[in-house]
Parts: sequence; structure tokens; C-alpha cells
Amino acid sequence: MLKKLLSGCVCAVLSAVMLTSCGRKAGDVASIKKHGNLVVYTSPDFPPYEFIGEEGKAIGCEIAILEKVASKLGVKLEVKPAQFDSIIMAIASGKADLGASGFTITDERKQQVDFTVPFDRSYQYLILREEDNYKYLEDLAGKAIGGQVGNTGMLLVEDAINKGELKDTKAELKQFKTASDAVLELKNKKLDAVVVDKLVAIELSKQNEGTKAVQLLFKTAEPEHEDFGMIVKKGNAELLQLLNATITEMKESGELEVNLLKYSEIARKLQDK
Ligand code: ARG
Repeated sequence: MLKKLLSGCVCAVLSAVMLTSCGRKAGDVASIKKHGNLVVYTSPDFPPYEFIGEEGKAIGCEIAILEKVASKLGVKLEVKPAQFDSIIMAIASGKADLGASGFTITDERKQQVDFTVPFDRSYQYLILREEDNYKYLEDLAGKAIGGQVGNTGMLLVEDAINKGELKDTKAELKQFKTASDAVLELKNKKLDAVVVDKLVAIELSKQNEGTKAVQLLFKTAEPEHEDFGMIVKKGNAELLQLLNATITEMKESGELEVNLLKYSEIARKLQDK
């Protein structure tokens, strides 16, 4: 019985894996059409870009872009939740057709995957307890700083601790599975600040009473913007082109902006329930 059950499990796991590997070339448009599904990996903890909606499914303004791409291809969009810091490798090794997770376009990441044109621009923000007034990176000297593992914001803080503004200040970086997990620790006073992208910081601070979001500033430099793109396996030019065309269309028509607001509102209503 146990054996039967086990082999059943193995089969289920195998068929899930095979869906995107066996006989299916990840990110290849002909293959996507043939199999009737566009498979995306996402870390749905990043409102308004991607988060879990009322029906337990991932929704958000990035998912809305992909619904449109899938309908152009005449296929079904299949959204698979994954841990944020595993997605780039998964896409580079062909486990899904693409990754959509508020990815900041960076030169390092460009060595592993290809990026679409940007669909939004962001800045790093701080989530703080209401009574605190840090705003410069330098204000975080000696403090406990947290965020989601693998995020660009974490790399920024890590750099500052290793060789920059926070060096030798006893500032400490703590990385969590999601930014929300970090915010809980902030509320429990185990952290002094959470670093995360602008709109997400605004959403999470609205969802968590006693916290606020402010832009992260630097005493000696202007804050740098980050552009968000989706990712495909290197060389998947046809899919990339279709994604780019759809993003550009939705940007130019204003639909993208409307969706950002729409999904911010949906995320807030979910929280009020
Ligand atoms: N923009 C940041 C980065 O690329 C954070 C993205 C986090 N995304 C998510 N869905 N949790 O590292």
C-alpha cells in the first residue's frame, strides 16, 4: 500500500516536472502553443505586482500582463508560486517559460537570463515603526535591517555593511522568506527597518498598523531608480518579443498604470476583510 502510495506521489511529482521539461521546450513559442499553456514562476508576496487574491490564486498587475500574452498565444496562463531567490536559476535552466516577480533589471542578472523592456520603475523604501524617523541609509548605523532574501535591496544593505556607509557600525542584515515576514519582525522589535521596493513598502505598511513607509535616502548621493522586467531563458527571442510588445502596448494605452492602481486597491480590500 505504502509502495503504491509512494509511487503515486512520485508520478504526480514527475508529471509536474515533465509538464515543463519532457517534450516541452521551455520558453519556446511553438512548444507553448502545442501544449496550450504558458508557465510562469512567481513569488506572489509582492503587492500590487503579484500576490494571492481572494480565490487563493496569484493575481496582480504583472499577472494581468501575462494573461494578455497568453490570450494572444491562444493558451492558458499557468502561474506557479516559487521562492523568490530560486526563480532566476529555475528560468535559466528551463523549468518554466518565464519568471515574473518584480525583478529589477541588473547587469549581474543579465548574465543569467534575458529581460523584457521595463514595465515599471521603483526606488528602495524603508518600512519603519511609526515612532522612528530614520530616512538616510546612514541613520541605520548599528541597527537591525531586514527584507526578502535575494532582493536588490538586500544587496544594497549588504554592500553598505561590508564596505560602505554601515561598515563597522554593528549594523546587521537579516533576510527572510518574504518581506511580510520581515515586517512582522519589525513589529516585534526584532528589526529596526525593512528595505523593500516602493509600492510594496507602501502596501505592506498600510497592511501593518503601527508602521510607515519612507523613501531610503543617502547623505552623499541621489537615490538610484530600479527598472522592473520579466525574465526568460537566454535566447528565447520570440517569447521575449511578444512580452515586449504587450508591455509596450499596455504602457502606451495607460492600462499598465490603471492596473497598478487597481491591484493596489484589491490588495488593500483583501487586507480589510
Ligand atoms: N525588485 C527586487 C529585486 O529584483 C525585489 C523583487 C521581489 N519580488 C517578489 N515577488 N517578491 O530583487
